[in-house]
Amino acid sequence: MNLLQRKYFYFFVLTVLFFFFAFNIKYNYILNQTIDYLVPEKNLKKNSFIQYECGQYDICGGWADRLKGIMSTYAISLLTNRQFIIKMTKNCDLKKILEPNEINWNYEQVPDNISIEELKIFNNQPFNQFKQKLSLFPNLNRTNMINVKYGMMFMHRLIDDPILKKKIKKLGYEQSKFHMAYQFHKWYKQLFKLNNRTQKKHDEFLQRLKPNSDSKLICCQIRKGDPELRDRRDDYVERDFWNFINTTFLSSGFNLSSQYKIFVTSDLEYVSLDAKNYFKNNEVIFSQNSSIHIDKELSNNECNKLESVILDFHIMQNCDIGVVSHSGFGVLALLNRPNPFKDLYVYSKEYKHLDMENETVYNSFFNNFKNLSFIKFSKLDDIYFFQN
Ligand SMILES: *[C@@H]1O[C@H](CO)[C@@H](O)[C@H](O)[C@H]1NC(C)=O
Ligand SMILES: *[C@@H]1O[C@H](CO)[C@@H](O)[C@H](O)[C@H]1NC(C)=O
Ligand SMILES: *[C@@H]1O[C@H](CO)[C@@H](O)[C@H](O)[C@H]1NC(C)=O
Ligand SMILES: *[C@@H]1O[C@H](CO)[C@@H](O)[C@H](O)[C@H]1NC(C)=O
Ligand SMILES: *[C@@H]1O[C@H](CO)[C@@H](O)[C@H](O)[C@H]1NC(C)=O
Ligand SMILES: *[C@@H]1O[C@H](CO)[C@@H](O)[C@H](O)[C@H]1NC(C)=O
Ligand SMILES: *[C@@H]1O[C@H](CO)[C@@H](O)[C@H](O)[C@H]1NC(C)=O
Ligand SMILES: *[C@@H]1O[C@H](CO)[C@@H](O)[C@H](O)[C@H]1NC(C)=O
Repeated sequence: MNLLQRKYFYFFVLTVLFFFFAFNIKYNYILNQTIDYLVPEKNLKKNSFIQYECGQYDICGGWADRLKGIMSTYAISLLTNRQFIIKMTKNCDLKKILEPNEINWNYEQVPDNISIEELKIFNNQPFNQFKQKLSLFPNLNRTNMINVKYGMMFMHRLIDDPILKKKIKKLGYEQSKFHMAYQFHKWYKQLFKLNNRTQKKHDEFLQRLKPNSDSKLICCQIRKGDPELRDRRDDYVERDFWNFINTTFLSSGFNLSSQYKIFVTSDLEYVSLDAKNYFKNNEVIFSQNSSIHIDKELSNNECNKLESVILDFHIMQNCDIGVVSHSGFGVLALLNRPNPFKDLYVYSKEYKHLDMENETVYNSFFNNFKNLSFIKFSKLDDIYFFQN
């Protein structure tokens, strides 16, 4: 190359480099700005809240429905750097039973002169509507408080959004694990601890359930259904449960079966008594006053009943084996273990045999919880639970 050629060559190289860096800076700037609308100040934004609310006149569903709403709203709080708040005051103020643990979700810290935008998310509302609202979150960033009412499990839908994807990664979560099933135990712990009085009950109870390090706990949750819907289920389904437990865990091959205790919870108390009659060689344990559906059977100021229900739920973190009805309470209680899918059996139908897009199939499944069998729930798609 002569001198002139060399000059052109260097000029060319420099120009390419210039555009390369310029583009890169610009691109990253755009990228960061896009992410920044989710993370305006990297940390918690001041006076910026997102609240899960279940008030006296709201439709909240049972404890499992509420937890679905709580955890999904918590996921959004992480993604938007808003302070997470829970205000569950229907019939009994939740904070009389569960107290904030690592996350201070106490609603009393919210100033009352702030702007509030309400997101009502109902089960029957097409998810797309909510997703549109989600993409509107940037426009909500002047709103001090986003108030989410009623629960459905929407957090696992957030994984698909390309912008949220980046944020999920930034938070240090593996993409596919940013899902209620995998994070539930961790998040439940971050959010909740029992108050001292209930903790004491819990410890005493656990001592009975697992008296020594060899003790094993089989947990059984049987949902009989609300009275008006009870004929949709087998009359004597509990007998199927007992036989399954007997033959699967207590008879064949299990020579240590006497170390198993059986914890039973149900929305009807006689179910637990029936278990006591059936299992003669294994202690059956259940708690009083917990056999209710808090959405339907809790009246005002019945904190003691809510406490019994939550205590059951809380204690089930210690189950070694779970055998449960296809219902939110039982499934979530068992997923709330360090190893969520360990030895978990759900009385249901295999998902791969159910075409839930087909309305006939869908309706006949949910209107007729009969003739089911115990499906080992060891991965998300084994039963129809997180798909809706
Ligand atoms: C939301 O935040 C982004 C980035 O911080 C900002 O550019 C935008 O103007 C804000 N929108 C509103 C409505 O405040
Ligand atoms: C709310 O009130 C506090 C003190 O009473 C004040 O410092 C704050 O600026 C107010 N916030 C708004 C958004 O008006
Ligand atoms: C609850 O127990 C802890 C530890 O024993 C104690 O530090 C705390 O003060 C107690 N809280 C109340 C409200 O009694
Ligand atoms: C449990 O199963 C064993 C073995 O199949 C059987 O002999 C026993 O009768 C069953 N127990 C009850 C209470 O039915
Ligand atoms: C019974 O348990 C012991 C100790 O866990 C084990 O070594 C043995 O193989 C078991 N026997 C049967 C028949 O399962
Ligand atoms: C169950 O409820 C009854 C009636 O309200 C009450 O007397 C009893 O102490 C409760 N039991 C427990 C364990 O909370
Ligand atoms: C829906 O399922 C029903 C019952 O299995 C079946 O008869 C019908 O053909 C299915 N419809 C469609 C569109 O696949
Ligand atoms: C349940 O299964 C039994 C035997 O397989 C059958 O006779 C009965 O009709 C089934 N019931 C329903 C509601 O499907």
